[in-house]
Amino acid sequence: MHSLSKIVAGAWRMGDWRWTPQERLRWIEQCLELGVTTFDHADIYGGYQVERLFGEALALAPGLRAQLHLVTKCGICLVTAARPQHRVKHYDTSAAHIISSVEHSLRMLGTEQLEMVLIHRPDPLMDADAIAAAFTHLHADGKVLHFGVSNFTPTQFEMVHSRYPLVTNQIELHPLHLAPLHDGTLDQAQRLQLQPMIWSPLAGGRLMTGQGERELRVRAALASVAARHVVSVATIAFAWLLRHPSRPVPVAGSRRIDAMREAVAALHVTLDAQDWTEIWAAGLGHEVP
Ligand SMILES: NC(=O)c1ccc[n+]([C@@H]2O[C@H](COP(=O)([O-])OP(=O)(O)OC[C@H]3O[C@@H](n4cnc5c(N)ncnc54)[C@H](OP(=O)(O)O)[C@@H]3O)[C@@H](O)[C@H]2O)c1
Repeated sequence: MHSLSKIVAGAWRMGDWRWTPQERLRWIEQCLELGVTTFDHADIYGGYQVERLFGEALALAPGLRAQLHLVTKCGICLVTAARPQHRVKHYDTSAAHIISSVEHSLRMLGTEQLEMVLIHRPDPLMDADAIAAAFTHLHADGKVLHFGVSNFTPTQFEMVHSRYPLVTNQIELHPLHLAPLHDGTLDQAQRLQLQPMIWSPLAGGRLMTGQGERELRVRAALASVAARHVVSVATIAFAWLLRHPSRPVPVAGSRRIDAMREAVAALHVTLDAQDWTEIWAAGLGHEVP
C-alpha cells in the first residue's frame, strides 16, 4: 500500500510565492512538523519550474528526503519556451513520454525514487497497454513505487486499472464542485478501496473569499457548522471532505503554515450527517429531496 499522509501539501503555487530556497525549505519542514509528509507535484507546475524549486530547497537539507514522500504527474504538454517542440497544448500518454517525463522529474526533484506518479488528465488517445508498459518499466527500475491517475472518469479509471493496479484518482471535490458524489467516481473509489486524492479542497480559495451567491451560501453553512464545533471555517471544509467513507486525502495548497494547521485540525473533527448535509445542501442550492 502507498503511504500518503492524511493531509497532503500541494506545490502547484510554489512558483508564485517568490521565496528563497531557505523559505521553501522552512515551509517543507513546517509541513513535516504537522505530519504533512506527502508533497504533490506535477512536471508542468510553475511552467515546468516548481519541481526544480522544491529540489533546490531539499538539497539544502538532504536528510529530509527520507522523511517525506513525493507525488508527481505527467501527460500534459504546455506551449512554453521551456518546451520549444510543443506547437499546441496537448496530452501525451505514450510510454516514451511517461518514462522521459518521470526521469526529468527525478532529476529536478533531486531524488532517485518517487512514491507515486499520476497521469495528470485523461487523454482521448491513451492506450492502456502503453501506460501499463511505462508503469511496469519505471517500477522495475525502482524509480516509482505506485501509480495513479487524475481527473479520470470511472470508466477511464477502470480501463487503465484493468492493465495496471492504480492506487488513486486525484480529483476536484468541494461544496462548489459536487459531481464526484453522484457520477460514480467516489462509488468506484469505495468499491476498490482506493482513497481518492482531493485537489483544490478550498476551491482554490473561493470557499473562503468568493463573493458569488453560491459561494456566500456555502460559506454561511460552513460557518454555522464551524461555530457548533468551535473550529475555523477552513477546518470544517476539510472535515466535510474527510467525512466521506471513501477516505479522501485532501491536497492543501496554501503557502501559510497556519492554513496547513487548519487542514490538519480537521482530522480531529467528525461531522454528523446533519452537519454534512447542511453544507452539501448549500452547495446544491436546495434541501435534499
Ligand atoms: N490534479 C489536478 O488536476 C490538480 C489541479 C489543481 C491542483 N492540484 C493540486 O492540488 C493542490 C491544491 O490546490 P489549490 O492550491 O487550488 O488548493 P486550495 O487549498 O483549495 O486553495 C489554495 C489557495 O487558497 C488560498 N487560501 C487558503 N486558505 C485560505 C483562507 N483561509 N482564506 C483565503 N484564501 C485561502 C491560498 O492562499 P494562501 O496561500 O495565501 O493561503 C491558495 O491561493 C495544488 O497545489 C496541486 O498540488 C491538482
